[in-house]
Amino acid sequence: MPKAKIAPSMLSSDFANLASEAARMIHCGADWLHMDIMTYKPLFAHQFWAYLDCHLMVTNPLDYVEPLGKAGASGFTFHVEVSKVFDCGRITWYLVTENWQELVQQIRSKGMMPGVALKPGTPVEEVYPLLDGENPVEMVLVMTVEPGFGGQKFMPEMMDKVRALRKKYPSLDIEVDGGLGASTIDMAASAGASCIVAGSSVFGAAEPAQVISLMRKSVDV
Ligand code: DX5
Ligand code: ZN
Repeated sequence: MPKAKIAPSMLSSDFANLASEAARMIHCGADWLHMDIMTYKPLFAHQFWAYLDCHLMVTNPLDYVEPLGKAGASGFTFHVEVSKVFDCGRITWYLVTENWQELVQQIRSKGMMPGVALKPGTPVEEVYPLLDGENPVEMVLVMTVEPGFGGQKFMPEMMDKVRALRKKYPSLDIEVDGGLGASTIDMAASAGASCIVAGSSVFGAAEPAQVISLMRKSVDV
């Protein structure tokens, strides 16, 4: 079982003071900083001295490999559900199939760690080819809320996916994202999650360091 990584989600931070918010989280004991990449341009990262765990909620992650690599991102996690936007202007969402290898290769060539994320409605089996094939991804992000925004309710039924992944891949980094905090951390930890993303529970706490430390203790037993 890999060591715990606690990753405050910067989506819940004060965007006008991103650099000092990042410094504050590192001071509070964060291992990683989780950056949700949606529509804003990834021009921020080089100013932080931390592991930047980037979660790509975009329709064409390949377009972001170079800018994020330049910006100093550390991890690059794309969704298994999307791989391409057709140029006819119609957005088509489909499962990553033949072109995930190229994406993973590009991510690695820019010095980033490739990971794959799956939404609550996607069966866990969809990520197996990306772990079993040549040039596999190094982390799976199991979404425990519908992606989009912070402060949503944790979905405990997603722990079946975490358990299945932990059983099949004992040393894999498994990340959970959405609704994690003091009341849900034990469910995630006992299912086998090793990387914990937490936005509102950390940023909304009077003492973020205590929340971070509590979550780390729960994972590292
Ligand atoms: C949701 C994002 C999360 C979000 C989590 O789409 O991927 O990273 O910031 O926020 P909380 O921890 O508040 O659920
Ligand atoms: Zn996220």
